[in-house]
Amino acid sequence: MRASLYLILALTLPRPVSAGEGYPGWETDQGCPCSNQSLCEPIHRVGPERVFAFHVGVAGNKDWTQYDWSQITTVCVFGALDPELLCHAHRVGARVTIGVDIGIASWRNASLVDAWIAEKVRKVQDGFLDGLNLDIEDSATDPDDVRALSSLSARTAEAMHKAVPGSQVTFDVPSGGMLNQGTCGTQYNRRYDFGALAAAMDFLVAMDYDSNAHYPSKCPTCFDANCGLPILEQGTRCYEKLGVPASKLVLAMPWYGYDYTCGPDDKPGDICRIQAAAQISYPGAAGLLLSSSIGGRHWAANTSTPYFYYRDRSSALHRVDYDDVDSLRIKYAYARTAGHRGVGMWTANSLNYTNVSEVSSFWEALKEFEPPPGEDDVANLAYV
Ligand SMILES: *[C@@H]1O[C@H](CO)[C@@H](O)[C@H](O)[C@H]1NC(C)=O
Ligand SMILES: *[C@@H]1O[C@H](CO)[C@@H](O)[C@H](O)[C@H]1NC(C)=O
Ligand SMILES: *[C@@H]1O[C@H](CO)[C@@H](O)[C@H](O)[C@H]1NC(C)=O
Ligand SMILES: *[C@@H]1O[C@H](CO)[C@@H](O)[C@H](O)[C@H]1NC(C)=O
Ligand SMILES: *[C@@H]1O[C@H](CO)[C@@H](O)[C@H](O)[C@H]1NC(C)=O
Repeated sequence: MRASLYLILALTLPRPVSAGEGYPGWETDQGCPCSNQSLCEPIHRVGPERVFAFHVGVAGNKDWTQYDWSQITTVCVFGALDPELLCHAHRVGARVTIGVDIGIASWRNASLVDAWIAEKVRKVQDGFLDGLNLDIEDSATDPDDVRALSSLSARTAEAMHKAVPGSQVTFDVPSGGMLNQGTCGTQYNRRYDFGALAAAMDFLVAMDYDSNAHYPSKCPTCFDANCGLPILEQGTRCYEKLGVPASKLVLAMPWYGYDYTCGPDDKPGDICRIQAAAQISYPGAAGLLLSSSIGGRHWAANTSTPYFYYRDRSSALHRVDYDDVDSLRIKYAYARTAGHRGVGMWTANSLNYTNVSEVSSFWEALKEFEPPPGEDDVANLAYV
């Protein structure tokens, strides 16, 4: 049971569905897809990052038209890439980057790495895009692998910046929270050289989600939120120690939660002995809260995160820990106060875009990151 819970959590980590694969809907051989050709120019804006939005595109879906584009500085695309999204983003000065991945088995093979870099750079150029997001999440402990990863990342950034001046290259790093992932710098056994990665990249994107459960062998009844405030704080300190200043880190937070099945004898409000864990979308959690919660919404003061209980059709007790606009506001404000470079979310498309109040409140909450009028932005660094 303990081992299988870990397996469930490990398997449900949000891995982009098609990193580095094709981008359906993207026919770059037909040339610039925008009616105004100048919108196919890459973005040259320098200056601060603000909202870095992960977007998992679904062909034909236009929910992205309802994003608050006045706040987005970068939209990082996984899945289908809608050419109209590119034209729109460029019209409002936002960069469009794509998530890419290369497995550890290739890191030390120079010819494979060279071919991979050339292919990704060409993909950005052919697609009129603005750069790459390295979503590499393999465990790596061998110093030769770690060195190879630093080197291939630096070479990717160099090649990309050279081919498209003003382009952006970023790297997704694990949540800094160490409660269930090992000590600082060893999260998920990714013993990467984070200082070297930060030096090579325009900035790093901390995936501040899935920080929720201790390894069950250590504490099967411990609860920590998907994105607890103390975990963000630990992350800031951890990365600082590893040579990554807050101004080089965008904090990406979850627009989803976790649904835990508790033990057969557990009661709402008592300890939930986790039998299974599954991710739940924000709209899924909000719907259950409204229709089925026992005792309504509770607040975990030690993580600044809401949760509730419900019983499923077979009357098994569940506890759902998730983030809503109240908890996200607190965490975005923290990112601003701590001097982080920006905030983001996994994923921007995960709201119920037919629910106008949900959409406006989630995007409005991101304004907690806005600097007060007249105050200089903390991360006023020019792009390479
Ligand atoms: C094309 O887009 C550019 C950049 O947004 C703008 O300056 C220019 O006026 C547009 N041209 C037309 C014909 O709309
Ligand atoms: C690198 O990968 C290629 C293609 O898989 C293979 O043919 C070659 O032997 C590898 N080189 C080394 C040094 O492992
Ligand atoms: C918050 O409290 C819960 C339950 O009391 C505990 O399991 C959890 O470890 C605490 N989290 C933090 C980050 O202190
Ligand atoms: C999405 O929002 C609409 C309108 O508010 C609502 O009718 C619908 O039930 C919601 N869908 C889900 C899956 O929550
Ligand atoms: C719309 O979203 C809000 C906030 O998530 C929720 O409280 C409300 O019940 C939703 N409305 C419908 C009709 O689903």
